[in-house]
Amino acid sequence: MERIDKLLSSTGRWSRKEAKELVRQGRVLADGRAVLEPEEKLDPAARLTVDGQAVDCSPFVYVMLHKPAGLLSATEDSRQPTVLDLLPPELKKRGLFPVGRLDKDTTGLLLLTDDGGLAHRLLSPKSHVDKVYLAQVEGRVDEGDRAALAAGLALADGTACLPAGLEPIGDGSRCLVTLQEGKYHQVKRMLAARGKPVSALHRISMGPLTLDEGLKPGKWRFLSGAERAELQRTGTLP
Ligand code: URA
Repeated sequence: MERIDKLLSSTGRWSRKEAKELVRQGRVLADGRAVLEPEEKLDPAARLTVDGQAVDCSPFVYVMLHKPAGLLSATEDSRQPTVLDLLPPELKKRGLFPVGRLDKDTTGLLLLTDDGGLAHRLLSPKSHVDKVYLAQVEGRVDEGDRAALAAGLALADGTACLPAGLEPIGDGSRCLVTLQEGKYHQVKRMLAARGKPVSALHRISMGPLTLDEGLKPGKWRFLSGAERAELQRTGTLP
């Protein structure tokens, strides 16, 4: 059993003070019954609503962020701003971390969560979860590049990559690259190995999760119930 104000603030949507206020204002129902005392203890499995909207008090939080250029994909750094700095303090306190890193200058989809098991499943190459990137290159990618990535490329330092997808867009100065692993600077190093250095990189999707076009760079939102359910079905390790 857990205090109602604690349950509500654990979602990261409200501070403890705001949660107490919501309860006192009679805006919170548990299994259809108004809860009016912030101290009241409830079963965390109770069906909670605030202003008639269902509230998910599951133990983990999942956030979709449109990473802008210029921020580190890290939880903290002594000198440079990180993606965590885009979140409100209640959420930062939950100990969220980015699922896989994007380079400082890479933009696009970043999933933040405190669900370590899910992160592991999404990132493990054994799970075969596609990560799709839109790359702008110097020069033009061609059929030779597509075939080389499909065969499994060796990077300049000899590191072997798993087979990857490459789909030229238009004249080939842009392309979609699909990876099932995440080596350091992988897309940039793969395309550099083909003599087509990347000038801009943007992640579009990770497994079933696609960057919401309505999210401007630097903005975030919680995943919907459907998105969370899809992610939980993704990347089951053998
Ligand atoms: N590959 C890269 O080179 N950079 C990223 O940020 C992600 C994938």
